[in-house]
Amino acid sequence: MVKICCIGAGYVGGPTMAMIALKCPDIEVVVVDIAVARINAWNSDRLPIFEPGLDEVVKACRGRNLFFSADVEKHVAAADIVFVSVNTPTKTRGLGAGKAADLTYWESAARMIADVSKSDKIVVEKSTVPVKTAEAIEKILTHNNKGINFQILSNPEFLAEGTAIEDLAKPDRVLIGGRETPEGRKAVEALKAVYAHWVPEENIITMNLWSAEISKLAANAILAQRISSINAMSALCEATGADVAEVAYAVGKDSRIGPKFLNASVGFGGSCFQKDILNLVYICECNGLTEVANYWKQVVQINDYQKSRFVKRVVSSMFNTVSGKKIAVLGFAFKKDTGDTRETAAIDVCHGLLGDNAKISVYDPQVTADQIMRDLAMNKFDWDHPQHLQPMSPTATKQVDVVWDAYEATKGAHGVCILTEWDEFKKLDYKRIYDGMQKPAFIFDGRNVINVDELRKIGFVVYSVGKPLDPWVKDLPAAPPS
Ligand code: NAD
Ligand code: UDX
Repeated sequence: MVKICCIGAGYVGGPTMAMIALKCPDIEVVVVDIAVARINAWNSDRLPIFEPGLDEVVKACRGRNLFFSADVEKHVAAADIVFVSVNTPTKTRGLGAGKAADLTYWESAARMIADVSKSDKIVVEKSTVPVKTAEAIEKILTHNNKGINFQILSNPEFLAEGTAIEDLAKPDRVLIGGRETPEGRKAVEALKAVYAHWVPEENIITMNLWSAEISKLAANAILAQRISSINAMSALCEATGADVAEVAYAVGKDSRIGPKFLNASVGFGGSCFQKDILNLVYICECNGLTEVANYWKQVVQINDYQKSRFVKRVVSSMFNTVSGKKIAVLGFAFKKDTGDTRETAAIDVCHGLLGDNAKISVYDPQVTADQIMRDLAMNKFDWDHPQHLQPMSPTATKQVDVVWDAYEATKGAHGVCILTEWDEFKKLDYKRIYDGMQKPAFIFDGRNVINVDELRKIGFVVYSVGKPLDPWVKDLPAAPPS
């Protein structure tokens, strides 16, 4: 029986390995992690991450050919194929801080693999890494364990949170990069055979290692670029009376462009887009490609602009101050159908409102109060570096309240900000919400989920990203002349 071990039981390692175990009953899959609490949760009835359909997949194979363990070294030593799916966050200090990927976790995993291995292994990069990481990993492995043959493959993951199970069951493509040597090709075939249990052969793409590593960064950069493009258009729509949803529809009808990923929003979030683009920018800079680096940097800059533009709309519309006013924040996760808050636009929006001394009442169906308080206390880029966590300042704690119901959050509020597109926000009783709010009652929809005309009829002052402005919504102050 082929044995697979995956280092890292996170948002990628957990679901990906569960799918492999489900589709390959003849393979034993063990997911290991140094975070014992996370492993315990994977072994319990309450999984550590919320992902539609994940519970069913885990229940179908846990204890059969899927195992979760904190005994990292034992299972790595026993494996034929070792996936490494550890976090690769943005560096917060030292060379490349604020841009480069922090490979500390990856390197320590590689050194451990070298230390414990007694048989040949295929080591698979599942984490998103800078191009040429495989070369560095190869050196660490081969120099620290001379008797063993290690083949390094790049097999980046393309799942999106909230749809991870669908994405894994029917991937658009599986990408495998390997060395162009007989041993390299053999390793590629071995990994291909795993995915071939359920993925049609024409959807399994093989290529050289560096192309595979760059493809992942390129895919995320181009996806994020589409969002920044439509978000940039949303600002122009607001300035001219156009409707960004109509513009996106018209643009997306062009078969060369297509309709997906053109929803204007308060800004993209998630653990990948910003981190991977900054990483790409850093790699371009290191290769002397200043113009290319500046081009991609702009995607992140427009995203920051979109978040701060949203905050300015809120403050300027509410008579230029939200000091002491209650603002309900509906949705804190970075997108619907996940409890993940990494890099969510809600953090920056809340910081902006807190900076203007607002009182915030947050409701999200999947995010705990504890998580929200921790997120609001963290410095930029610290979320994936647990050692940097700090308690929230006592003043800030007094300004934030987390509740478990949208009606409770909006009761007595001056304004409502919708920051995640949860389906339930489309079906709220907005008349009831209006009746319970201070007047004039403002609603700022950062996700285009509400029916603007209906809410205006109820009496709300409505702002919805990229839609024609309500006369009450104040234009942003013009930029000072440069
Ligand atoms: P995560 O933080 O949820 O999980 C990483 C896990 O690795 C953590 O549980 C951590 O404890 C563990 N870990 C770190 N160092 C370890 C070590 N030395 N030994 C054992 N365990 C260790 O991260 P994630 O969201 O699953 O992302 C993992 C990688 O996949 C990243 O490189 C990310 O960019 C990439 N990726 C993420 C997504 C996504 O949607 N989250 C999608 C595609 C690719
Ligand atoms: C992304 C990539 O889609 C996935 O392929 C990769 O493996 C990991 O990174 P993820 O971050 O989980 O996945 O979710 P995604 O659906 O891409 O959304 C990212 C952010 O963009 C969210 O905040 C989402 O709300 C936002 N978004 C997405 C928009 O604002 N508009 C859109 O049209 C699409």
